[in-house]
Amino acid sequence: MSLRYIHTEINESVALVRIERHEVLNALNLHLMNELVGELARLDADDSVRCMVVTGGPKAFAAGADILEMADATVVEMKQRNQFQVWDRLRQVRKPVIAAVNGFALGGGCELAMACDMIVAGEDAKFGQPEVKLGVMPGAGGTQRLTRLIGKNRALEMLLTGRPISADDALNMGLVNRVVPAETCVQEALSLAYEIAKQAPIAVQMIKEAANKALDVDLQTGMELERNAFYLLFATEDRSEGMKAFLDKRKPVFRGR
Ligand code: CAA
Repeated sequence: MSLRYIHTEINESVALVRIERHEVLNALNLHLMNELVGELARLDADDSVRCMVVTGGPKAFAAGADILEMADATVVEMKQRNQFQVWDRLRQVRKPVIAAVNGFALGGGCELAMACDMIVAGEDAKFGQPEVKLGVMPGAGGTQRLTRLIGKNRALEMLLTGRPISADDALNMGLVNRVVPAETCVQEALSLAYEIAKQAPIAVQMIKEAANKALDVDLQTGMELERNAFYLLFATEDRSEGMKAFLDKRKPVFRGR
């Protein structure tokens, strides 16, 4: 099915998903978000895909929710539109998703990057939550995810001033995994994705689930969840293959079973 704003290529079990609405710096309108989340859900269910990379263009990963779409909306219209519901479905994606961010990742764009599992940033990337300058606040997780990722005080400085931070500052604060030259950003994210795609897929998904839970539950609950997931992996063929390959001194071949 051809999508208007989203273009996907699959290579070596990795899907590269590009947001293409460059004329408005990839502003995330409702149509685009529905396409993006639908595409990620489709790839999540596709056995030939083990990891995904989401990227934008050279000038913008995404400059936020589409302001034009919201400018004249009433509170009732906003409530009925329920535009953030689709974002909840991002959290259901079981496979790892890496954001490759060049240029602006502002507002919803920063929230989208943070909704991914890892972020590779080009050196010119700018991260920010400028909603306060529009008289509103983040609505797609900005106050929650940013606070968890970089701590309350630094998050509040960004949220209350609306001032963007550089890629290097984002790295120092723990918002991104690494900073690379802009022109290699997508390739670096893909390399990371290829490395993950070689691992045992069911273990990868369970590790993602357990790590995400670490942000939501107390330590003891998280430890129990981790232990049960560890035991469960002993039911997989990939666990037998992984351990046998180690003992045979050869590379494992994981099939996701
Ligand atoms: N919504 C709609 N259109 C946008 C947009 C957005 N978020 N961001 C940029 N655009 C459009 C501009 O209106 C402009 O369109 P025209 O050519 O038709 O005038 C085009 O993209 C290019 O933008 P600029 O001319 O402004 O480019 P610039 O290089 O001078 O500035 C920028 C770049 C600093 C990112 C600036 O565009 C900007 O500040 N954008 C808005 C950022 C923002 O406030 N984002 C938060 C949105 S609210 C939100 O995201 C809520 C949430 O929690 C989900």
